[in-house]
Amino acid sequence: MRAMTVVPGKADSASVGEVGEPPEADGAVLVEGLLAGICGTDIELTSGDFGSGRPGADRMVIGHESLGQVLEAPPGSGFDPGDLVAGIVRRPDPEPCPACARGEWDFCRNGRYTERGIKDADGYGAERWRVAPYFAVPVPAELGRLGVLVEPASILTKAWDQVDQVGARSWYGPEQVLVTGAGPIGLLAALIARQRGYAVHVLDRATDGPKPQLVRDLGGVYLTDLADLRVTPDVVIEATGAGQVVVDCAKLLGPAGVMCLTGISPGPASIGVQMDALTRQLVVRNAALVGSVNAAKRHYADAVEVLLAADPAWLERLITRTVPLSDWPSALVKEPDDIKVVVDLRA
Ligand code: BGC
Repeated sequence: MRAMTVVPGKADSASVGEVGEPPEADGAVLVEGLLAGICGTDIELTSGDFGSGRPGADRMVIGHESLGQVLEAPPGSGFDPGDLVAGIVRRPDPEPCPACARGEWDFCRNGRYTERGIKDADGYGAERWRVAPYFAVPVPAELGRLGVLVEPASILTKAWDQVDQVGARSWYGPEQVLVTGAGPIGLLAALIARQRGYAVHVLDRATDGPKPQLVRDLGGVYLTDLADLRVTPDVVIEATGAGQVVVDCAKLLGPAGVMCLTGISPGPASIGVQMDALTRQLVVRNAALVGSVNAAKRHYADAVEVLLAADPAWLERLITRTVPLSDWPSALVKEPDDIKVVVDLRA
C-alpha cells in the first residue's frame, strides 16, 4: 500500500512509499486512511533533524493528524465498519511513568513515550492503518472531513485546560484573550475563546489572505501590530514560538494573567531581553507562563465537542488546500494563503 514516508535523519527524503500492510500489533481496529493533516512538526520531520519510525525500519510513515474510516473492528470494541475515527498520537512508555500510568501520557516524565508518525512509531499517513480501540477517537459522521481537525483541536483543548487549571489558583474570570499566530493552532485557540464568550484579539503578520476575515467572522479583532492592542490580556495563547513575540506578550499580561506557550520555532538563537524588569512584572502580577504539548484522551473528546459546536463553513475555510497522496510532498511546500493543508490518502 502507499504511504507518506520519510527516511529518518535524512533531509528531503519525503516520498510516496510502498509499505507493507499495517501489522496487527498496531491494534485491532483496521482503518482506511481518508485524510492526514500536515503541520510544522511534519515539515521539521522532513528536514531530517528529528523523528524516528518503527524500531529497525529504514523508512517511517509520517502523519499524526488523522481521519479514517473503520474497515474492521472486533465485536465489543465500540467501533463498527464505516465509523469515522481519528487516532491518538502519543502512547505511554512501556513501563509507564506515574503520569503515563494515569493516562497523562502528555505529561510523560521519563520521555520514553512514543508518538505515531513522530517518535518510534509509524504514523497514520497511509492507505490503511491500525489502532487499538482505546487509542481511536470516535468522530461523529456529521463532522465528515472536518474530523481531520480533531488532533490539532486537541492541542488547544489541552492548552485551555492548562490555562483553567493555573487560573483556578485564585478567583478566575478571564475576559480578554490574546492569541498570537493565526495558523490552525491560533485560529482554533481563538475559536475556543469565542465559544467560551471571551473577547479575542489575534496577532499575525499576514496583512491579506484568509486570516483577517476568519478572525473577524469569529467576532475577534485582527492585529498585525501588537502596539494596536487596546486591552490588557488576561490570557495569552502563544502559537508562533517566536522568542520576541513571547517576550513582548509576557510583558503585557494583566494581574494573575496566564500565558500558554504552544509553539516552538527554530528561530534566531538569542534576543535581547531586559529580564530583571520582566521578572519583576511577572512576580508582582502573579503572572504565569506555562508550556503545553500533546493531549490526553479526554482532550480529544473535548476537541470533538469544540468542532461540533463550531460553524462547519468556518472550519471548512481552515482547510485551504487538499493534496493527493500521489503528490503529498507538495503539501510540505508552503503557499501564501495556506492555513491547514491536508493529504487525501485515497487519491
Ligand atoms: C503534535 C503533538 C506532539 C508534538 C511533539 C505536535 O505536532 O501535534 O501531538 O506531541 O508535535 O512531537
